[in-house]
Amino acid sequence: MNVISFDIIPSTNGYCARNISSLAHGDIVTARRQSAGRGRKSRKWSSEEGGLYFSLVLKEGLSLLKSPGTLTQLMALAVCKAARRAGAGAYIKWPNDVLAQGRKFCGILSEAVFDGQNLKAVIVGVGINLSQKELDSDKPAVTLAELGIEADAEDLLKEIVDNFNFNFELLKREGFEALRDCYKEAFLYLGKPVTLRVFDETVEGIAEDIDAEGRLILRQGEKLRVINIGDMDF
Ligand code: BTN
Repeated sequence: MNVISFDIIPSTNGYCARNISSLAHGDIVTARRQSAGRGRKSRKWSSEEGGLYFSLVLKEGLSLLKSPGTLTQLMALAVCKAARRAGAGAYIKWPNDVLAQGRKFCGILSEAVFDGQNLKAVIVGVGINLSQKELDSDKPAVTLAELGIEADAEDLLKEIVDNFNFNFELLKREGFEALRDCYKEAFLYLGKPVTLRVFDETVEGIAEDIDAEGRLILRQGEKLRVINIGDMDF
């Protein structure tokens, strides 16, 4: 595992994007703090000391993927498994937030880097609340410390990356189908009513299933709707 560590940088994802040509497949960039941590939808990701902030660079095997978005789901699964082993009652809020006790402790931001039309790399950025005092307040959030879990950042990082790599090999060989049952087990909302934001639309229904490509199947009365991209409300 090749880890490039910083005390403080603006954003580990940003660093990877700027230096993508000199980074190799599997390289990991971490920072103890980020001065301009980025969240999804151009939100900021508060990154005080005491959290785990890292980005994983993926360059190989990307052409085998039906959708690079499944990499984010794979990472959510890897975090969920590691957090459960540490003692958290962790679960996934589709597609890629990881929660415990109804509050978010991990966010994932995947960014694709293109060379012309070709997908050159995917940067999977992960922020985990370990013990920092300041959290973003736009969503219910929690730290692992608040859950009574004293996780060592380095050990947790290694376990997450090992989990991810194991699942990535499976994904490349067999597709998301091979991970579907694990993902469904970790997806707490299965069979429950959910509200989603799909671009500008608010969509309601029952979370009926996760399909073989990791998409959410939403039941709306008699109809089933396939949701590719969206955000579930808390
Ligand atoms: C989200 O909005 O839920 C995604 C948050 C992702 C934060 C991580 S922290 C490490 C990496 N670098 C960033 O600037 N963002 C991601």
